[in-house]
Formats: sequence, C-alpha cells, structure tokens
Amino acid sequence: MSDTTQIPNSFDLIIAGGEVVDGTGSPRRRADIGVIADRVAAVGDLSQAQAKERVDATGLAVAPGFIDVHTHDDRMVLTQPAVAPKSSQGVTTVVTGNCGVSLAPFVPGSRAGEADPPGPMALLGTWDDYKYPTLADYNEALEASPPAINVASLVGHSTLRAGVMDGFERPATKAEIDAMAKVLEQSLKDGAVGLSTGLAYPTAIHAPTDEIVELAACLKDFGALYTSHMRNEGPDLVPSVDETIEIADRSGAATVISHHKCVGRENWGKSHDSLAHIKAAQQRMKLDYDVYPYTATSTILLKDFLSTSEKTVLTSSATHPEMVGREFDSVVAEWGCSVDEAIERLSPAGAVYFRMDEDEVRRIMAFPGAMIASDGLPIDEGRPHPRLWGTFPRVLGHYCRDHGVFSLEEAVHRMSGKPASVFGLTDRGEIRPGAFADLVIFDPKTVIDRATFEAPETPAGGIERVYVNGELVWFELSWTGARPGRRAERAAV
Ligand code: ZN
Ligand code: CU
Repeated sequence: MSDTTQIPNSFDLIIAGGEVVDGTGSPRRRADIGVIADRVAAVGDLSQAQAKERVDATGLAVAPGFIDVHTHDDRMVLTQPAVAPKSSQGVTTVVTGNCGVSLAPFVPGSRAGEADPPGPMALLGTWDDYKYPTLADYNEALEASPPAINVASLVGHSTLRAGVMDGFERPATKAEIDAMAKVLEQSLKDGAVGLSTGLAYPTAIHAPTDEIVELAACLKDFGALYTSHMRNEGPDLVPSVDETIEIADRSGAATVISHHKCVGRENWGKSHDSLAHIKAAQQRMKLDYDVYPYTATSTILLKDFLSTSEKTVLTSSATHPEMVGREFDSVVAEWGCSVDEAIERLSPAGAVYFRMDEDEVRRIMAFPGAMIASDGLPIDEGRPHPRLWGTFPRVLGHYCRDHGVFSLEEAVHRMSGKPASVFGLTDRGEIRPGAFADLVIFDPKTVIDRATFEAPETPAGGIERVYVNGELVWFELSWTGARPGRRAERAAV
C-alpha cells in the first residue's frame, strides 16, 4: 500500500522532491511532504495535489526539527522570541531546566536577601528572573509571549533546594525533601517532563544519593524522567555513573546522563568503563545519555573545574566584562593575586575549559543511541561556548559527513526521533502523517557549524528552512518573525 492512498488532495504547504530523513533511522527516500495547519498530513507522491504554497526541496534533505534535550534556555525562550541560537540550527524544540537549575518553580524564601543567585542558578539569570512560583506561572508567561520554537521543561533540584533550604552545605531534612517532592509533583501536574540534578555544583554536592532517590521516586507515575549532571566527570566518572544507575534502579525512573564526557588528561579513556557500565545497565532499565560535539566544557567559573582544565577562557564576568575572551591564568598574572581572589573578583562569571580528548568525544558520540544535545549557555554580554549556536550542524557536517562517525539517518535519529521517544514528546521527532510539522530543510553537502570560540554567535551554514508547527520560522539566515512555539506535551502514561 502506498503512502498516498486516502490522503487529502489539498494542503497548506507541500515540501516537494526532498530526500526525507524521517527521524526513525530508516533509509532516506525521495518524497513530498504535505502539511495541513500544524501537522504533517501526507508523505509520498503529491505531484497531483493542490497546495497554497509549494516549496522545492530538490537536492536537499528534509528532516524532523531537531530536539535539543539539554538546554539552559529557560530565560531565552521568554526574552528572545526568535531563539536564534537554536532555530538557526534547525532546532524546533528545547528541553529547559537541565543540570539542576530551572527558572521555575521558585519562591525566593530565605535567599531573597542575597545579592546574586548561587552557583549554577546564576547561569539562568539574576534574582529578578526567578519570578515563577509554579511551573504553571512560567507556562502562562510562555503562552502570553510565545517563542519561535517549542519548549519542554525539567524541574531543577538545586532550584527546589534554594526554595526550601536555608543553606546548601548539608543533606535536606525529611521535612525539606517532603516539601521539595510536593513542589515537584505539582510541577509534573503542570506538565514538567522530569527532574534534573547537578550534583557537581555547590548547591547540590552535599545532597546524598538518598535525597535524589526520594525525589526521583515521584517521576515514574507521571511517565517523567530523571536527568543528571553527575557528581564527577573526571577521576570519579565511573563511580558517578554507578551512582546514577543506582538512583535509576531505586527510583524506577527512566534516566538520562547529561553531557556524558570525561575531563582531565589523566582521566582520558575512562569512558571505556563508563560506557560498559551504561551498556550493562541498559539491559534492565531505561538509561540514556546526551553528548555535545566539542572538547571544551563550559559553565560557571569554579575552582574545582580549573584543576582539570588545560586552558580556561572567560565567557562572561558581571564585574569585569573587559576580561571576557581572556585566559583566566593571564588575568591572575595581571592582577598578581591568588586564584581564589581572581574568581571572587570576576564572579558571577562563566568560562570555557579545554579538558577533553577528541577520540573520547567521538567514542561517546558513536555509542548506540547517544543523543545529540547542546548544553548551550545563552549569556547577555559575553562570548558563549560555540556549542550554543553550532552543535547540530557540527554533528551533521563535521562528524557525520566529513568524518563518517555515523550515517546521516542515524545522526538525524539521534537529534529527533530518539530524544522524542526518551522524553516522551508526543507526535514530535518523526516525519509521518499525524506528527507535528516541525521540519528542517538542509543541504547535506554544505551543512556546517560556523560558530567558533572566537566568534561563537555565528549562525550555521546549509540550514535552508525551519518550520515549527507548520509555520516557517527560519529562512535565509534570519528569523521570519513567526512565533508558533508551544509547550511540547509529555505523553500520558
Ligand atoms: Zn551540566
Ligand atoms: Cu547543562
């Protein structure tokens, strides 16, 4: 039976003649795609059908819009409706609230008196940005001022802690865990897709495994998942993977290891073991991970992370913006002060840390089922890590086409169908009748990242058109002004 039996004969849009890479990993095939309103209505030969608009995609690939499951775009989707760093890459859905920090839900409580949000919470904004007591409030703000792309939200464990605890340097008490669980459950009812932790950060490092297990135990009934920026990604990489597996086991929650990597030259190679542990655990549980295609990491400026870094470059500094782009060591030398004092004087600040091995990045990326995600950090003033603007086209152009790490079908699957199924995002991530018309048209021969460490805010090449819910949002290297983004819904259990 052909795809075109019993299909409508008239469409709002037909994307004609492209090579359809449908997100499932199946071989590409030449086909037309018919869109009615916000959905794909037909895939097949639509040469005889009517269309209000017909786009010629001959010689180009047509894929499901990419799903960036590891983002810190909580604020950007509200303040920059184009979400250009993402829409320019063909990303049509972002998952916010990773690494233990989400803008919502947050009630300042006892922390309101502090000048800046602590540690990783500062990555998302100032206290003024933490103004959503519930996820429903955040959703309302999104609905009132929708972005170009879709949004799904995780709830951050550090954000929960900041709302109920007076300090981070200890485990939460039973009463505090109960209070956090209550807020988490309400958020899950409000549509959160899961809980994230950032156990490497000062806001969460004193949270014992048990605290996370108790919170993660709320997730299963909602079909929601647990994502972890693990306690350690260097010398204790493997024990940290084991801790994550233990949390998954005891809580029963489907689990995602965030930005899987191995940092610090003396630790390179440990991913052989970490991947073996993950592979073994996958036999009995839902365990996945995401990875970004670079050998440098990026986060807040923190002494712990300096020790494994061969070169550290400042991406932002609230107090010394003139130091952005400079190597941290050169600032210390210029100031003639201690490392601690320099961190203190520059903070809140962010940095890029060069501390991974190229072969290891490829090994982790090539592992069956690894999801591609950016971990991009939008910053107002500064020089972000290029992964913010470059992740997806870099994988498609550099790793897939130029280095053959995997096929184009496999690359697209790891950016669309796979993340949609792991995060349970209904009707996204695949091109098929009935799915949302989140689509990217790109040239597989030319697609490439153009964002560099020196000029990171540069849109990718080869991304021709990006559609979200049937509307064109990115065309000719610009945002079209359309704002069709919505909440990406989690499948009901
Ligand atoms: Zn992280
Ligand atoms: Cu992150």
